[in-house]
Amino acid sequence: MLRKKYILGNWKLNKNLSEITKFFAVFNKFVFRSEKIVYGFAPTHLGLAHALNLKKGQTIIMAQDVSEKIQGSYTGQISCYTLKDLDVKYVIVGHSETRQYLGCTDELVNAKVLTCLSHNITPVICIGESLKQYENKQTKQVLTKQLTTIFNTVRVNDATKCIIAYEPLWAIGSGKTPTLKEISDLCEFIRSTIKKLFNDNVAKQLPILYGGSVNESNALEIISLPNVDGSLIGGASLDPIKFNAIVKDIKQWTSKK
Ligand code: PGA
Repeated sequence: MLRKKYILGNWKLNKNLSEITKFFAVFNKFVFRSEKIVYGFAPTHLGLAHALNLKKGQTIIMAQDVSEKIQGSYTGQISCYTLKDLDVKYVIVGHSETRQYLGCTDELVNAKVLTCLSHNITPVICIGESLKQYENKQTKQVLTKQLTTIFNTVRVNDATKCIIAYEPLWAIGSGKTPTLKEISDLCEFIRSTIKKLFNDNVAKQLPILYGGSVNESNALEIISLPNVDGSLIGGASLDPIKFNAIVKDIKQWTSKK
C-alpha cells in the first residue's frame, strides 16, 4: 500500500496578515490536485482565518497547537471547538517548542490528542530526542516512552487518524539532520512500536513524517525513503518558492510510482 506523502509547513511565530497575503499571492499559482500528496501550512493562531480565506485548492491550513480543554475558564488558550468552526482539520501537538517554552508534556500531548480525535481533527504528533539523549544512544528508549504515553487510551480505530512527526530536537532549525539511514531506521522503529501498541494494520496506515532542517536540497532524498511519509518543515516553508520546489520534487517522484 502506498501511503500519501505529507508536506507540512510550520510557520511558527512568523508572518503577519499582510505577509500571509503576499505568501499566497505567490503560492496559489503553484497549487495542483493530487491524490498522493497532502500539503499545507500552520500559520499563527491569529493568521488561521486569514490563511483559510486566501488558500486555494487542496492546500490545508493547520493550527500550531490546541488546548486539551474544550470551553471554559482557560485564559489564552484556543480550542478544538473553535477550530472546528473555522474548518481547521489538522493541528500540530507536542511540538518541541511548545514543550520547551509552554510546558507541554507527553501526558498533556495525550490529552490534546484525545480531544482532537473526539472533534475529528487530525493531530500531527511531534516526538523526538534531545542532543544529549541522541549522544547517549537513548533515542529508541525516549521514543518508546513518548509513544506509550501519548497513545495511552487512544482507541485502535482512532489511532489511524493520527500523524506522527519524528523531529530530533537537535535537528530543528540547526541545519543538521540525522543520516538517511538513521531517519529510515527510526521511522521504521516508530512503526514497529505502533504495531506493538496497536496492530499491524494501524502501523501500516499511520503516516510517519520526519522534521528538522528539511529544505529544498535534502527533501526529496528524505521524503522518498520507504518508511518516511513526508515532512514537517519550519524555515524552508516560509518562502513560497522554496516550499513549492519541495512539493514539486515530491509530486514528480510520486507520479513515477
Ligand atoms: P525546521 O523546523 O525545518 O526549521 O528545522 C522544523 C520544525 O520545527 O517542525
